Amino acid sequence: MKILMVCLGNICRSPMAEGILRDKINKQGLDLFVDSAGTAAYHIGEAPDRRMIHTAAHKGINIGDLKARQFCVSDFDDFDRIYAMDQSNLDNMKMLARNDEDLDKLDLLLNCKDSFSKKSVPDPYYGGGDGFVAVFNLLEEAIDYIINNKV
Ligand code: 4NP
Repeated sequence: MKILMVCLGNICRSPMAEGILRDKINKQGLDLFVDSAGTAAYHIGEAPDRRMIHTAAHKGINIGDLKARQFCVSDFDDFDRIYAMDQSNLDNMKMLARNDEDLDKLDLLLNCKDSFSKKSVPDPYYGGGDGFVAVFNLLEEAIDYIINNKV
């Protein structure tokens, strides 16, 4: 099972989601592959935002090695499930879908669990430090749920 996490810039939310899942794959020996991408091209080749790297490091997860890339149509061929961090990322990928099979791979990450009242992971890029920890916790809850119920 190959999972792609997608946000706008691929420097805050989706690399954190990739890092959390990668850590769980390694620690739990899960038969999964994870990658991440952004729908926008602004940050291609860059490492994650230093505030996100710092938040991850505090939780014992290294995401400093990740490099931003842009989502592309061939990702529909390469991945089984593609999780968007928010509605706008989802809409952007829907516009690139070629057929129903591509569309079926797409979902909002927070759609995985009914108890998430908000379905979009807030973008911490323009906010303060607390936003990054809140995003980490939200992502970890969703990823734990997916591991235990969806794969
Ligand atoms: P991300 O956050 O989508 O979680 O990586 C953002 C990063 C950069 C920008 C917007 C959101 N930006 O406009 O540069």
